[in-house]
Amino acid sequence: MSGRPLAGESCVESVERGPISRPNRTCSFCATVPLVMRLHINVDHVATLRNARGTPYPDPVEAARVCLDAGAHGITAHLREDRRHIRDEDVQRLRATLRSTFNLEMASTDEMIAIACKVVPDVVTLVPERREERTTEGGLEVVKASPALRTHVEQLRAADIKVSLFIAPDLAQIEASHALGVEQIELHTGEYAHAAGDAAAEKRELERLAAAAKRGRELGLEIAAGHGLTTKNVPALVAIPEIIELNIGHATVADAVFVGLPAAVRAMLAAIGKGRASP
Ligand code: PXP
Repeated sequence: MSGRPLAGESCVESVERGPISRPNRTCSFCATVPLVMRLHINVDHVATLRNARGTPYPDPVEAARVCLDAGAHGITAHLREDRRHIRDEDVQRLRATLRSTFNLEMASTDEMIAIACKVVPDVVTLVPERREERTTEGGLEVVKASPALRTHVEQLRAADIKVSLFIAPDLAQIEASHALGVEQIELHTGEYAHAAGDAAAEKRELERLAAAAKRGRELGLEIAAGHGLTTKNVPALVAIPEIIELNIGHATVADAVFVGLPAAVRAMLAAIGKGRASP
């Protein structure tokens, strides 16, 4: 455990992999509030920019190092079936160089699971994937889980890889995820992000996410969240105490165009600290 406070907030404690299984412990800085949060930066869009011109730069692995130096707790990358951004060699280099949590997102396919079992990232997040989509749309269908999904979860667990499922904030999906034996769920925050500017819709989506996070914790799952998060919409989300991990990519890479990557990461950490510290 690093014990490093986020953005100068004494009651927001960051953790490395070890204590994650005890997400509700009391913060060692303020000794009262069980606040634990880790920020994983998704570096896919650095690879998108690189691939747009076929150059070797900007390098997503170098971006990962910069994000970690700026205070992020881990790195997320999505190896898509069409390799539109992250490529196989990026995954290998991330595994070889990262000293913090490496969360590899992938579809539940035999090809991807074989790669994961070879690379052995710290975490695999299984996501739904459609070739025609611009980014991951919707959550994984776990209630009507295919036999393949069950097999893939078992294979990952047998390889000692923590498994997270990217799902909608839906109670039935959460209970089905728990029944599959995974350690973590990542709640899809896309609907919340899309509700920006409509206060009633935002409130409704936050309530859905809060109920989902609460149910997940009751079942003993670790609760992550991600998709469409920005420095503007993250403070209200992290007021949900059960959420202990965020996976954020597009907005931080977009902010980096104007302020640079270290400042963009620090701004996100500050926004998280602000939301976590609010009553
Ligand atoms: N979490 C998951 C499972 C995702 O698929 C994505 C998008 O790749 C993200 C988080 C990050 O979303 P965004 O790029 O909108 O921050």
